[in-house]
Amino acid sequence: MLESRDTLRHLIRTKLGNQKFVVVSNREPYMHEYRDGQIESIRPASGVTVALDPVMQASRGLWVAHGSGAADSEASDLNGFVHVPPKQPNYKLKRVWLSKQQEEDYYYGFANSALWPLCHVAYRRPVFREQDWKMYREVNELFADRVAEEIGDDRAFLFIQDYHFALLPRMLRKRCPRAIIAQFWHIPWPNPEVFRICPWRHEILDGMLGNDILGFHIRYHCHNFIDTVDRELEARPDREMTAIVFGGHTTKIRAFPISIDFEDVSRRAASPETKKTAMALRRRYRFPDDFILGVGADRIDYTKGLPERFDAIDRLLERYPQYRERFVFFQAAVPSRTHVGEYRRLNDEVDERVAALNQKYGRRGWQPVIFVREHIPLSTLLGLYQMARFVVVSSLHDGMNLVAKEFVASQVDSDGVLLLSQFTGAARELRGAVVINPYAVDDMAERMREAMEMEPVEVRRRMGRLRAQVRENNVYKWAADIIRKLSKLT
Ligand code: F6P
Repeated sequence: MLESRDTLRHLIRTKLGNQKFVVVSNREPYMHEYRDGQIESIRPASGVTVALDPVMQASRGLWVAHGSGAADSEASDLNGFVHVPPKQPNYKLKRVWLSKQQEEDYYYGFANSALWPLCHVAYRRPVFREQDWKMYREVNELFADRVAEEIGDDRAFLFIQDYHFALLPRMLRKRCPRAIIAQFWHIPWPNPEVFRICPWRHEILDGMLGNDILGFHIRYHCHNFIDTVDRELEARPDREMTAIVFGGHTTKIRAFPISIDFEDVSRRAASPETKKTAMALRRRYRFPDDFILGVGADRIDYTKGLPERFDAIDRLLERYPQYRERFVFFQAAVPSRTHVGEYRRLNDEVDERVAALNQKYGRRGWQPVIFVREHIPLSTLLGLYQMARFVVVSSLHDGMNLVAKEFVASQVDSDGVLLLSQFTGAARELRGAVVINPYAVDDMAERMREAMEMEPVEVRRRMGRLRAQVRENNVYKWAADIIRKLSKLT
C-alpha cells in the first residue's frame, strides 16, 4: 500500500493518540521577511523543511525552531507562536529567539564550521573554537527549556532534527522524563578515524545517546556511528540489533531514507501553470532554438561539487564543439551561510568559473551557463525541470539529496535524465540514475554527453524505474516508518 498524507494522519491518530508530537529543528519551515514594505512568508532552501512540513501538516503537532527571518517577530505572537502554513494554517510553529552572538557562535561557528565539515568528507578542515562550543551548549540548553515548557511531565514524542542539536536529547531526557525522544541526523556520519579529531567528541556522543531512536539516511552512516561509539565510549554496541546500551539506556540506531511528497510534486509538475512557467523562462533567458538544457539546483555549499560541475561543462564543450550555441546549463544557486569564510571563498570561486566559461565559449546571443544566485521557488524549478534534458547532482558528499528526488517526481513525461553523484545517500536507492564521480571531471563530462545522446527508450526506461522507486518510498513512508518504531516504545 502506498503511504499518503491520509494514511500517515490515520497512523499518527492510532499510534500516537492524544500525545503531543513536537519537532525541533534549527531552520524553521516558514520565515517571514520584509519585501517592499510588506511582510512576506518564504520557504527556506532546506531538505529538512521540505520533508517535514507535510508530516507536520498530517500530525498537526508543534514545531519549535529558530526564528531567523527579519519579520518573524512581528509576524508571531508575544510568545513566539505563529500558525502555519500561512495560506492554510494547520499546525503551530514556536519560534526561539537567538542573539546575534548566539547565532554567530552556535550556528555559523560550531554547527557549520566544526560539525558540518567534520561529518562531510569534502576535504575542508573543521574549525574547533572553545567559544563556539560553549555557545552550542548554551543554545542547546535554551531549546531544551523552550521545549520543556511545552511538555513538562506529559507523555510526548519529541523528534529532533540534525547536527545543530547533538546535546539536546540528553538535556531533554532530564527535563521531560516521560517523553520518547528521537533524533534524525540529516547529514552523513563519518568513520571513527575522521570523528576522533573533535575535542568534544565524548560530550557529543553522550548527548546523542540520550535518544531512544537515532536515525540516519543510510545503513553505512549507522555503522559508522556504532563504530565511533565503540571506539570512544565505554558503551555496549549491539551490532546485530543495531543498538547501543550506554549508562543503562538503549538507543536504537536505524536507517530511514528521507524523501519527498512524490504525488504533490508530480501533480504540480503536470499542471498548466508549470507549462506557462517553462514558456516564460524560455523567453526570459532567451534559450536558443533547438536548445538542450542541463539544470543544477543547490545551496552554494562546498559539499555540492559546484566547481567540479563547471569544470565538467568546460570539458564537454571543449571536446564536443557541436554542443556550443545549443547547450545551456541553468544553475539555480541559493546563497547559504555566507558569514563563514569557506562559503564566501566558494562564492567567489564559483563566480570566477562561470565568468571564465561564458567568456571562453560565449557567442552573440548565447552563453553556456546561466547562473542565478537567489532563492528559486519550487514552482519555477519545476518549469526548468520540465525543459531539462538532464539534472546534475554532483555532491562530494551528501546525506541524501532531495533535489534528485524532486527532479524524478517532476518527470511526468519521463524524458529527463538524472546524473547523480555516487557520494549521495540517494545514490543507494535511485537505481536508474546515471552515476557520476564528481572528482572525475572528464568522466562527468562524458556522462553529460551520454545523457544528451541517450535513446528516448532508454531515458524512459530509466526514469520509469526511478519514479516507481520514489513514488513508493515517499516522505509519508519515511515518517510512517519512524512513527511505527516510536510507537513500539510506548
Ligand atoms: O539537510 C541538512 C541541512 O543542514 C539542514 O539541517 C538544513 O536545514 C539544510 O541543510 C540547509 O542549511 P541551513 O539550514 O543551514 O540553511
